Amino acid sequence: MAVLGMLLLAGLPLLGLAPAWTAASGGSDLGRETYVQTCALCHAKGTANAPRLGNREEWQARIARGRPELLRSVLKGKGAMPPKGGNASLSDRQAAAALDYLLSQFEEAHR
Ligand code: HEC
Repeated sequence: MAVLGMLLLAGLPLLGLAPAWTAASGGSDLGRETYVQTCALCHAKGTANAPRLGNREEWQARIARGRPELLRSVLKGKGAMPPKGGNASLSDRQAAAALDYLLSQFEEAHR
C-alpha cells in the first residue's frame, strides 16, 4: 500500500494536480508556513501598523533599503515588531525564509 501511495503522489504533478503544499508561487514552503504561523498575525491585516502582505505602497520604501537590512529588522525586531515576530523558537533560517516569502510577493524584490 505504501508503494501505491508513493506512486500516486509521484504521479500527481504529471496530472497537473500538484498538491497545495508544492505550489510553486513565490517563496519556499518553509517561508510560507512560517509566515502563516508567525508573521500573518500582524502582516495580514496591518495589526500594530505592520506593512501588509503584498501591499506595494506600504513595502516599497522598505524594499528599497535592501534585504540585508530587512533581515536585520526581522531578527532583531523593529518598532512594534519584536525579534522574529515574537516567536523566539524560530531559527534564523525560518525567519529569513518568511522574509523571502514576504518579498516574493513583489517582482522588483526578485534578485
Ligand atoms: C507583533 C506584530 C508583528 C509580527 C508578529 C511580525 N511583524 Fe513584521 N512588522 C511589524 C511592524 C509593526 C512593522 C513596522 C516596524 C517599523 O517600521 O516601525 C514590521 C515590519 C516588518 C518588516 C520591515 C522592516 C524594516 O526594516 O522596514 C519586515 C521585513 C517584517 N516586518 C517581516 C516580518 C516577518 C518575516 C515576520 C515573521 C517572522 C514578522 N514580520 C512578524 C509587526 C509584526
